[in-house]
Amino acid sequence: MKILVTGGAGYIGCVLVPMLLERGHSVRVLDSLMYGGAGLLPCFRSGRFEFFPGDIRDPKAIQSAVEGCDAVIHLAAIVGFPACRKDPVLAEEVNVAGTRWVAEAAGKKRLVLFGSTGSNYGAVPDQVCTEETPLNPVSVYGKTKVAAERMLFNDCRTIAFRFATAFGLSPRMRLDLLINDFVQTALRLKYLVVYEPHFMRSFIHVHDIARSFLFALEHADRMIGQVYNIGAKTMNFSKAQICEMIRKQVDYYLHYAAVGEDEDKRNYVVSYEKIGGLGYKTTVTVEEGIAELVKGLRLLEVKNPYANI
Ligand SMILES: NC(=O)c1ccc[n+]([C@@H]2O[C@H](COP(=O)([O-])OP(=O)(O)OC[C@H]3O[C@@H](n4cnc5c(N)ncnc54)[C@H](O)[C@@H]3O)[C@@H](O)[C@H]2O)c1
Repeated sequence: MKILVTGGAGYIGCVLVPMLLERGHSVRVLDSLMYGGAGLLPCFRSGRFEFFPGDIRDPKAIQSAVEGCDAVIHLAAIVGFPACRKDPVLAEEVNVAGTRWVAEAAGKKRLVLFGSTGSNYGAVPDQVCTEETPLNPVSVYGKTKVAAERMLFNDCRTIAFRFATAFGLSPRMRLDLLINDFVQTALRLKYLVVYEPHFMRSFIHVHDIARSFLFALEHADRMIGQVYNIGAKTMNFSKAQICEMIRKQVDYYLHYAAVGEDEDKRNYVVSYEKIGGLGYKTTVTVEEGIAELVKGLRLLEVKNPYANI
C-alpha cells in the first residue's frame, strides 16, 4: 500500500515509518517538524519513502500529500495535556481543525487509522474502561482528541486506536511520558517526587503501538468503523507499582507528595478484550522497557564540558 503518515516525524512515527517500509509499503510523511526530523533520516535509503514538509492546517498541503495514497495514518497533533494547556488555541487548531482537513482530503474511499488516546475517557467513575465507556474528557488534549475521533468516524472509513500511555525509546524522544519521565528523573536526580501514587494507569511500548497499526492494515476489513483500546490487561499498573519496578533497576529515593494532580484525571483500568479478540497482543513488558530506558537514556545525557576543569 501507499500510506500517508501525518506527524510521522514524531515519537510514534519515527518507530512506525521504518516498520511500514520494512513490510514493503510505500510511505509518505507530512510533518511540520516541531521537534525536527532527524529520526527519519535513515528512511531516505528506501526508494519508497517520501517526505513532504507541511502543516495539516494547510488544506493544499494535506491535499497534495494524500494524492495517490491508499491509506492515511493520522498522528499529527499537539500531544499531551501539558503541551495543549500551554497553547490551547494551537491545540484546537491542529487537533480539531487540522483533522477536519485530513478527513476532507482522505475522503470516503481511503482507509484512515487514527492515533487516539485513553485520555478520551477522562474522569471515569467505575474505573474499568471498555470502548463503550462514556467519554468524559477533562483536559484540552482529551477534548480535542474526542472531537477529532468523532469527526473521522462521521466522515471517513476510520479505525481509531485509544492508546495506553506509551513508553520506550524512539529517535524523537518524549520525556514527558510517565515511565520515560520517571526513569529519566530517577537516573538524573536520584530522587523522584510522585503525586497520586495509587492512581491506576495503563501502559504500552512504542514498538507495540507501531505494531498495532501494521495489524490494522492487515485486518482492516474486520476493523473499519470501530474504536479499539490498544494495550494489555497485564500492563495496568498504579504509579506506585511503576516506581517499585524502576527501583529494581535504579537506585533512587522515592517521595510520595500530597500535592499535584493529573489534569486528565486518569485513574482507571482499561479492558483490551476487544482488540485481543482479533488476535493482537503486546510484546514488550514494562520491566523490559525500563531496562531499555536505563541503557538508552545515557545517550541523551547533557555532559558538563567544564566538569573536569
Ligand atoms: N505517545 C503516546 O503515549 C500516545 C498515546 C495516545 C495517543 N497518542 C497519539 O499519537 C499521535 C502521535 O503522538 P506522538 O507521541 O508521536 O507525539 P509527537 O508530539 O512526538 O508527534 C507529533 C508529530 O506531529 C507533528 N505535528 C504537530 N502539529 C502539526 C501540524 N500542524 N502539521 C503537521 N505536523 C504536525 C509534530 O511535528 C510531530 O512530529 C498523536 O496524535 C497522539 O495524540 C500518543
